[in-house]
Formats: sequence, structure tokens, C-alpha cells
Amino acid sequence: MAFSLSSRELETELISVIQKGAGGNASDFCKWIRMEIVKKFKEEPDITENDVITLLEKFKSNGDLVSGRFDSREYFLSDDSKFHKKVGTHDSYNILGKLDYSPLQYVKTRLEYFLRKNSVDEEEIIDVAIATIEAIENAVKYGDGEIVEVEYSIDRSRKFSISLLNNIKEFNLEDDIKRGKFTSTATLMRGMMVMQKLFNQVDLEILDDRKQASFKASRILGVS
Ligand SMILES: Nc1ncnc2c1ncn2[C@@H]1O[C@H](COP(=O)(O)OP(=O)(O)OP(=O)(O)O)[C@@H](O)[C@H]1O
Ligand SMILES: [Mg+2]
Repeated sequence: MAFSLSSRELETELISVIQKGAGGNASDFCKWIRMEIVKKFKEEPDITENDVITLLEKFKSNGDLVSGRFDSREYFLSDDSKFHKKVGTHDSYNILGKLDYSPLQYVKTRLEYFLRKNSVDEEEIIDVAIATIEAIENAVKYGDGEIVEVEYSIDRSRKFSISLLNNIKEFNLEDDIKRGKFTSTATLMRGMMVMQKLFNQVDLEILDDRKQASFKASRILGVS
């Protein structure tokens, strides 16, 4: 049975996603609302993309949202939106590690918002976002599709630190060989290479006893 959301509850859920700084198209917002409801109630809500579009368009005509710079179907907070909340130097939240909930776009845009509010330079935001997306992609690809814990902060010395924790999906070597991860001797490992280039320090620990992966990385931010 699907979880039923009243239009007021739908609006409240949408506003809470918008307030985190996440931005994307109507389908992304729909997925993120579903993700929040599944996290809270373990059930899919019966929402339609049309209802979400109506609300997004209303916020846009009120001046609280603007179209994306690169894709006009995307919605982001306007500079003077009433939905801005105070952003600190630390953020932590759980996502569901399934592509179905558009977790990559969610973390990317929420992180970019956090970095911008912390006066990080735009070029550096791009680097940190690219590296983080690689890490989230791994947590989704190798995770069990359930909760991924996300946490990041900027300390007094302007060091950005991020940590992710995911359960590991049952390992299937046959599948890995088929999709070409392993040649006879090497794995692809492109992601780790990208992360090593864009972060100053990267560490992936496999917690065997708990079947979990703990990812930690940091980058010394330039002065802006
Ligand atoms: N969050 C994670 N959970 C479990 N295993 C992980 C996680 N992150 C990385 N790994 C392991 O580390 C390996 C290296 O990751 P990396 O991102 O470099 O390569 P990849 O994801 O296999 O391929 P690519 O990123 O090039 O598409 C992965 O193949 C996987 O076995
Ligand atoms: Mg990868």
C-alpha cells in the first residue's frame, strides 16, 4: 500500500528539500521527496510529478526559485529566496543509495550550496563536487541500496573533510568480470585516481566484520 500525502504535506516536504539547497528538475525533486518519505515511513508515497511541478512553478513565479543556469528545466534557490536558512560549517544527513532516488544530484547540489555559503571559490567547488560524486557513486554502486551516511565540514584552518559510510552489497566476482572491472591483472580504479587528485587525503576502509565501507577524505581549501 502506498503512503498517502496531503497537498499540504507534499508542500512541506518539498520546501524542506529546497531549504537544504538541493536543486534539479521536477523528476529529481519527486525522487527526493520519495526518498525522505521512505526513510521516515519505509513506504513509497503516492505523489505525481505534476503536483510537484505545480508547486515548483508557484515558487518560481513568487521569485523563490530560479531556472538552472545550464538547464532551464532545473530549479534552484534564488539569491533572495525566503527559503534560505542559516548554513553552518558542518552538515550531515542520510541518503538512500539507489539511483532511483537520484542521490548523486542530491548530494552534488546540496554540497555545492554548503560550499558556496561557506565562501569557497567557484573553481574549488567544482573540484570538490567532482571528487565527492565519485565517492557517492561508489557508495551507490557497491552499497546495498540502503542508508548511506554523509557528513562533511570545514574547520577553522579551512580544511574540508568528508566521510561516507555504506553497507556493502554481497560481492559478486562473476558480475565484476563480466562488466569489465577486472582485466587479468588490474581493476579500473578511475574513481580513486580522480579522488586522489582532487582531495589532499583519501582513505577507504572496509570494515569486514560489519560488511561496511568507510570513506574519508579531505582537502585544504585555498583562501578566498
Ligand atoms: N563505498 C564503497 N563501498 C564498497 N567498496 C568500495 C567503495 N568505494 C570503493 N570501493 C571499492 O574500491 C574499488 C575502487 O573504486 P574506484 O572508484 O576507483 O573504481 P570503480 O568504481 O570500480 O570504477 P570507476 O570509478 O573507474 O568507474 C571499487 O572497485 C570497489 O571494489
Ligand atoms: Mg568508482
